[in-house]
Amino acid sequence: MQDLLQGLNIYLVGMMGAGKTTVGKFLAHRLGYRFLDTDSLIEMVADKSIKDIFAEEGEAYFRSLEHRILSEVASYTRTVVSTGGGIILDSQNWGYLQTGMVIWLDASVAILTKRLENDQSRPLLLNQNLAEKLTVTGAERKSFYQQADLTIIQQEGQTTEEIVEEILRLIPTKIKPKLKAELN
Ligand code: S3P
Repeated sequence: MQDLLQGLNIYLVGMMGAGKTTVGKFLAHRLGYRFLDTDSLIEMVADKSIKDIFAEEGEAYFRSLEHRILSEVASYTRTVVSTGGGIILDSQNWGYLQTGMVIWLDASVAILTKRLENDQSRPLLLNQNLAEKLTVTGAERKSFYQQADLTIIQQEGQTTEEIVEEILRLIPTKIKPKLKAELN
């Protein structure tokens, strides 16, 4: 698989609660790749939590940090990058995402709601009707996520290992067109 990827980065995109970080770590391990998480890097650079960045500096500032971190991460090779759910909203971010293979981890609102029901760390979900907010946000973002090279639709009860196996099985089916497009 390493030979096939030729060092191409993998970017995991998808809604909050889609499992990008959990799957990303496991996938990186299987590929012998480095793992990076844009949200963790943002927290490190800002020296505060995402929740505090949103509360104290606002979403626009968070998005500018997110863009900066992605631009830096894109200069690496052999890296699996888990991204924040909203990274796909900025068209300039796509310039960086498309230098690698973009994988959309899709999951139903029912699955996302179950995973996020006790979460207090995502500012966009605080004081909201969770299922409603996820439904609306997911619908607003669908056309962006659909620009991914590969879509993985998670099933209820599927394990991280099973999801990663599915990704590993499908990467070779997408890699040739991707590399061809890069060369043109
Ligand atoms: C966001 C998703 C979060 C984080 C921030 C905004 C979003 O990351 O970047 O709270 O706009 O969907 P996760 O997708 O890892 O939860």
